[in-house]
Amino acid sequence: MYILITALLGALILLLFYIKTSQKLHYWRDRNFPYAKTTVFQLLRKTSIFVFRLKSIDAVVKDMYDSGEGLKYFGQIGLHKNEIVLRDPDIVYKVMIKDFSYFMDRPFPVDEKNDPLSAHLFGLKGDRWRALRYKLAPTFTTGKLRTMFKQLAESSDAIVDYISHKRESLDAKQLVYSYTLDIIASVAFGMKVDAHKYLDGEKSEFVDMSLRFFQMTNRRFFKFIMITFFERFSKAVGITLTEDDVKAFFFALVKDIIAHRKDTGRKSNDFLQLMINIKEQDEKHGAKAGEIKKEILTNHEEDDKELFENLDTGKKGTLHFEMTDAHLAANTFIFISGGSETTATALTFALLELSCNTAVQLKLQDEIDSALIDQELSFATVNSMTYLNQVVLEVLRKHPPISLMNRHCVQDYHIPGTDHVIRKGDEIVIPTSSIQNDPENFPDPEVFNPDRFQDPDSIRKGTFLPFGMGPRFCIAMRFAILSVKVLLVKLLIAYNIKMSSKTKMPIRMKTEFFTKQIDGGLWIDFEPRNKI
Ligand code: HEM
Repeated sequence: MYILITALLGALILLLFYIKTSQKLHYWRDRNFPYAKTTVFQLLRKTSIFVFRLKSIDAVVKDMYDSGEGLKYFGQIGLHKNEIVLRDPDIVYKVMIKDFSYFMDRPFPVDEKNDPLSAHLFGLKGDRWRALRYKLAPTFTTGKLRTMFKQLAESSDAIVDYISHKRESLDAKQLVYSYTLDIIASVAFGMKVDAHKYLDGEKSEFVDMSLRFFQMTNRRFFKFIMITFFERFSKAVGITLTEDDVKAFFFALVKDIIAHRKDTGRKSNDFLQLMINIKEQDEKHGAKAGEIKKEILTNHEEDDKELFENLDTGKKGTLHFEMTDAHLAANTFIFISGGSETTATALTFALLELSCNTAVQLKLQDEIDSALIDQELSFATVNSMTYLNQVVLEVLRKHPPISLMNRHCVQDYHIPGTDHVIRKGDEIVIPTSSIQNDPENFPDPEVFNPDRFQDPDSIRKGTFLPFGMGPRFCIAMRFAILSVKVLLVKLLIAYNIKMSSKTKMPIRMKTEFFTKQIDGGLWIDFEPRNKI
């Protein structure tokens, strides 16, 4: 009897799944929009890959990209929503830059009430995003980067020193993660974390909490599934991805630092201070925000143009952003969590490629050695190293830390020269890792070849997107590139980077969902250089 009921129930679920999905399957055809053909079986397979985490994020993105082969863009039947996937660089360019105002949002839920940590720059929408972006743009100007350089150099030295006391192979990701946490904590809060001590087992609540943001435990994965598939219900019952103790920790930390600065009158040169200043300015000037806006717009160096471009809507009132303590915490938190993992991923893949491509490593060491014959390592010297720049860009081409990007259409968009319409409410996917590894865009994409970037202007627009493009591009792009470069330079001055036999070959990616992790880790032997 029990078996019969279970079988009947199973059959009923499958029938419901079939009825629901087979109706969905015609969605794009009925809308007269190009689409990737999907069967119920394929959808079931896709769902299983997602729910049971059977493939790496890049492999999932590749399957999606390949399913629309021959199309410039196409509709796909999503697991719970239908999405439009862009393949052609020209349409990517239009969506991200030229016609940005139609696609200015990301489709992620922001729930300021239940999850105040979700009210950050990455998630906020429309004019609220624009106003905040505007306010935060000065964080990463050339002047600010120059002052941050010292911190980057000091944290890199700590890593080089740490390695010098080790005889064994080291796990690259953990090592570089301790560096990125160090620098971002310092830039964000002015906090000294010394995260490398954590590698040797020293306790650090800050490191623990920061790492927790990306750890996909089963509990968190369940919550993620709930939020993805049952967004409204999750909101109603207050399910959030960020765990309560992590939220509480960051809120308390930010509150304490603000209180301490108020009590002591001490001002710092960090990101949190910038936001505190914004808050104070808003409280003081309120309606006069426009004048401050003008000042921000005119007082910056030529190199910073990109940071401030396209941010002014000209609409009255759009630049006013009331900054609460929750916003301060949310935005500091997104810098730490988003910035440390991505930069550490870029560095890990840089070490992987350097250890596999000895000729590139030698050429890079030559460039570094020559640049430092008669001068100190400085912001200017690092920026003068052209081959270093090519190497870093090629790492980001082959292994973009963020595999895909999303946009949310905010008003109907008629794709020029066609009779296709992207409707308000449609979700857009830009599959970065596949676009950057498509032989049409980069011949022999599996070959690590920094020479592709000898003339960055020759790269076709819309094909190289590790930091996104247009007004919503990564606000910290130059800081991230600089951080990667400084650590690489410091490591290559002191060591030859060799792949350890401890690394599982061939390299495979874990089937983690959010992040890119090498299965078994990337183990590196740092061999001291014998410079003549
Ligand atoms: C190699 C390292 C990094 C990579 C590859 C990277 C990549 C990206 C990408 C692809 C986006 C989305 C762009 C788009 O949708 O057009 C983004 C946005 C963002 N990134 Fe990064 N990022 C890195 C480091 C950082 C760091 C270090 C921080 C902070 C300290 C940071 C903060 C942000 C923020 C706040 C946004 C949202 C910007 C907005 O919507 O206005 N990122 N990043």
